[in-house]
Amino acid sequence: MQLNQKIKDFYDASTPLWLNTWGEQMHHGYYGPDGNREVDHQQAQVDMIEALLEWGQCPIKVSRFLDAGCGVGGSSRYLAQRFPDAVGLGVTLSPVQANNGQRYNREAGLSDRLTIKAQDLFTLSPEDVGTFDIIWSMESAEHMADKQGLMDLFYSLLRPGGQLLMATWCHREEPPALSGKEQKILGNICKLYHLPPMVAISTLGKAAKLSGFSNVATDDWSKAVEPFWGAVIESGLDPRNWPGLIKAGMSTIKGAWAMRYMRQGFTSGAIAYGMVRATKPAG
Ligand SMILES: C[S@@+](CC[C@H](N)C(=O)[O-])C[C@H]1O[C@@H](n2cnc3c(N)ncnc32)[C@H](O)[C@@H]1O
Repeated sequence: MQLNQKIKDFYDASTPLWLNTWGEQMHHGYYGPDGNREVDHQQAQVDMIEALLEWGQCPIKVSRFLDAGCGVGGSSRYLAQRFPDAVGLGVTLSPVQANNGQRYNREAGLSDRLTIKAQDLFTLSPEDVGTFDIIWSMESAEHMADKQGLMDLFYSLLRPGGQLLMATWCHREEPPALSGKEQKILGNICKLYHLPPMVAISTLGKAAKLSGFSNVATDDWSKAVEPFWGAVIESGLDPRNWPGLIKAGMSTIKGAWAMRYMRQGFTSGAIAYGMVRATKPAG
């Protein structure tokens, strides 16, 4: 089965359970730079959005934004409320996510300026959808194999002066080369969450520069997000969530099993939570 079909099926099946247990944000929480901040986990997910807006040097005025790999659009609605004049487009591979996202948009009174579509990001072109002031890429780039193609696409979809803000799962920098044990942990994560092989954060920075971006900066926020997986594992162990897990089917059950590999990935240092910001030169 093609990778995108697997990703679609995975999110179609697992999203209802995630919405019941965690809500509309489908990404890590942010617990302060050292991961020591004691904060409710769902608040930590919202704090992640604010932290990326600040670190990513988001422009003060945003008229159009793209949420690239948007889940049910938790970030989209946050951005739409933060930038009350802005129009937003979110894309996901999962029709289940898109339908739920559109319903949440209506409930939030945002459907006139926020659209969530089930569409492959790589089919977007500036001719069809125009250009954006910011591209928001929150924990979706890890699903995409062609990182250079992704950076080129983002470059083409930004207006001159526009800003890319990205958070994504990576592996730690080499050298030293990843050990056999690290490769095994990463391989399990990639298999169960339908990810192509991960890259180092520096690889994304280099790809962004090659696409023509300026002011490219990268950072590793592994410490800041590490407490999140303990909480996700706890929610997986809560018997109240088991019926939903069984209903969601085998790929979600396997995804739940992969939580322990994520924890191992962080404790062993094999996984790195990568941040990228980059500006399209103003022409
Ligand atoms: C872990 S979820 C993150 C969702 C969202 N950004 C959030 O933080 O709540 C990953 C998302 O990436 C999307 N995705 C992966 N590959 C994609 C592609 N080629 N085109 C569009 N969306 C994609 C999935 O459909 C899913 O919505």
